[in-house]
Amino acid sequence: MPDNYRLSKGILIDEDTLQDRIEVLGGQINHDYAGMTGLLLVCVLKGGVLFLTDLMRRIHVPHAIDFMAVSSYGVGQRETSGVVRIDMDLRQSIEGKHLLIVEDIVDTGTTLNYLKGLLQSRQPASIKICALLNKPSRRVADIHIDYIGFDIPDVFVYGYGLDLDELYRNLPYVAIAK
Ligand code: PRP
Repeated sequence: MPDNYRLSKGILIDEDTLQDRIEVLGGQINHDYAGMTGLLLVCVLKGGVLFLTDLMRRIHVPHAIDFMAVSSYGVGQRETSGVVRIDMDLRQSIEGKHLLIVEDIVDTGTTLNYLKGLLQSRQPASIKICALLNKPSRRVADIHIDYIGFDIPDVFVYGYGLDLDELYRNLPYVAIAK
């Protein structure tokens, strides 16, 4: 059981399962981007940060990283507000770059749909999306995800970058909230 067991119904994805899957995703990305230059991993804060740091250690294609902070849920809210706010933008031009957006979770798809459109307007060479968790049953926006770690049911999850009222992002596993 998680150390915060009073808040949790248990572990959905344990640490070994997460790491094994990230290894596979890294292998797929290495294969798909082999020999390419200008790869830029765009991590969507805050939730994507643990996934980024583990994923990038498995990517052997030369790449840079950058960060965007986006929010669609407020503190204490477990449903998207449907409104995407850019809290922090990239610090560089992405024209001609191969972008790989790294997200912790795709729920309604509202966030990534907006983000992809915004970044596309800046004329990168390509944009792909890598999401650790996917909730297909919740999808509202029609968004293609190129690399998916795990499809999960419609349960509220936290840990491994995802928060429970801004806490527990540090957990090395994904847990289900009560
Ligand atoms: C979460 C997650 C995605 C978004 C997914 O971010 O990291 O960005 O919600 O939801 P959607 O597909 O319904 O748009 P959140 O707003 O909770 O911010 P955080 O990553 O800083 O916790």
